[in-house]
Formats: sequence, C-alpha cells, structure tokens
Amino acid sequence: MRKILVTGAQGQIGSELVPALRERHGAGSVVASYHRTKPSDEDGLVEHLDCTDPEQLEDVVRRHDIGVIYHLAALLSAVAEEKPQAAWDINMGSLFNVLEVARRHDCALFFPSSIGAFGPNTPKLKTPQDTIQRPNTMYGVTKVSGELLCDYYVARYDLDARGLRFPGLISYVAEPGGGTTDYAVDIFYHAIRHGRYTCFLRPDTRLDMMYMPDAVRAAYELMDAAPNVLRHRNAFNVTAMSITPEELAASIRDHIPDFVIDYAVDPVRQAIADSWPQSMDDSEARAQWGWSPQFGLGGMTADMLEKLGRKLAPRTEDAP
Ligand code: SER
Repeated sequence: MRKILVTGAQGQIGSELVPALRERHGAGSVVASYHRTKPSDEDGLVEHLDCTDPEQLEDVVRRHDIGVIYHLAALLSAVAEEKPQAAWDINMGSLFNVLEVARRHDCALFFPSSIGAFGPNTPKLKTPQDTIQRPNTMYGVTKVSGELLCDYYVARYDLDARGLRFPGLISYVAEPGGGTTDYAVDIFYHAIRHGRYTCFLRPDTRLDMMYMPDAVRAAYELMDAAPNVLRHRNAFNVTAMSITPEELAASIRDHIPDFVIDYAVDPVRQAIADSWPQSMDDSEARAQWGWSPQFGLGGMTADMLEKLGRKLAPRTEDAP
C-alpha cells in the first residue's frame, strides 16, 4: 500500500494526527515530515522537509511511494499578520508545490482551511458552506486562495484534493503557535498552573472551536469518504462549539471554582477575531460524509483539565 505523508507533523494538528494515522494504518505506513523541530519519538518514519522546496518534496514522495498527503505546514493568523510576505511564501508556496507533486504522483491531498478564510462581510451567524469570502488578513487570503487552488486542481486535473474549514482547535499535546484562537488553549495551562488567566480577546468574543480528537477524526473521516458522496471536495465547514472567553472561563470554574480571568485586549488579534464568523453552519459536512463532533464545551473542558493536568503534574522523580 502506498504511504501517507504528513507535513508540519510537529505542529498542533500534526502531533496528534500522526499517531492516529499510525494507529489506523501501521507505523510503517506514515511518514512524518518536520521543518524545525525533529520529533523525539523514533518509532516511525521521519523526514526533514522544507515544503517550499519542490525538489525535496518530490524526493520524499518518490522515495516513500506516497499516495496520500496531509499538508499541515503553515503559519497561523497572528504570525502571518506580523510577517505577511513570509506567510504568503510559506502557505501558498508550499501548497502549490504539494499540489504539483500530488498531480504528478497521483496522490490524494488533505488541505486544512479555516474560519480565517471568511471576512468581515461574511454572515457571522450560521455561516453557510458557500458564502462571501473576502478575508482582510494575510492568513485568510492564503486560506481562501488555497481553497480555490485545490478546487482548481480537482476540476482541471481530477486530483483528489479534500479539505475542511477548521475552527479554533483546543489541544493538550502541542501548543499552537501564533493563532488568534490560542487563548482557548493558553487558558487551560494558566488555569492549572496559576489559577488565573489574562485573555487577549474581549470576554464576549464568540468563535467556533473544536477539541483536537474531533479535528483529527474529521480529517481522516473526510479522506475515507467515498468520492461519490461528496458534492464539495474542499473546505467543508466543521464545528463543535461556538463559545466566548467568559463562557470558557465559566466552564473551567465548574472544576476549579477559584479560577479568575481578566482581560488585556490585543488590538491586532481582536481585529482578526472580529472579522471571523461566530458560528459556522456545518450541515453540508454532516449530510455529505456524516460529520458529527463528540465533544461539546463541558466534555472538552473536563477532558482537557484531566489530560493537561496529568501532563503538567510534577514527575515523581522531580519531587523533593
Ligand atoms: N486557529 C487558527 C488561528 O487562530 C485559525 O484557523 O490562526
């Protein structure tokens, strides 16, 4: 069987998608590629890969006989706003190279889009699957361009490119780097370590969110779906909860009653969040390939606090 390549394997999604794919397909079937940080686990196949270099990409795909690529390597929204030129080069350059290598080697492709692909004049409530997309951030520009480019390769070359519009993702394995929705992860680290958190978004900033186990499952379930059931290929809206910082804080208080949240709003990230939907309509994903989240706010909070609490607990050998 041809192998699976995951780019950005050390990132927030990759660090949980890779083990899940290895569990499903066998460790020898999944190649994890990284750019900066080498994975510590030596169990599986690992490659250093800069996806902006088409020759390196071609070499990895050829050597490992890759048949499916999950292309996760990208800069997130806040970092992309700091370095728009680099964000275009990395997000679009690497996607173009991945599409080309997938076309030449007949690989299927998974591309993660985002709530960031929408903009200020998109309907904010029950944001439809097909609607106005005029993002005003570089991250959003690269995501909507990526969706279009993937659709182009599907139509022009019959490439099997599929994708999701992920909401903010909440996880305890790898911390996100430079996203606007990062508060929903940071808050758990601070709640466990310090019992308080200063949030960089306003208390009433409502955004879609999803717990990572649901996000990982959404990715492989979409890739597993029979092609004839899919009327869209790219950029399915998927969501699990639509929450604000104050609602998340209240949910944490169910477990840590003394938890305190205060606010020091970062105008850059607040402006990005204000340009995004508050709750996406994911009924097309549900109808076409059976998407259904397992974690709502309460279930996610309980699981996060338990798993992250275990991860952050002092190890016995560190104890005095
Ligand atoms: N979590 C991402 C970000 O905040 C959105 O896709 O950049």
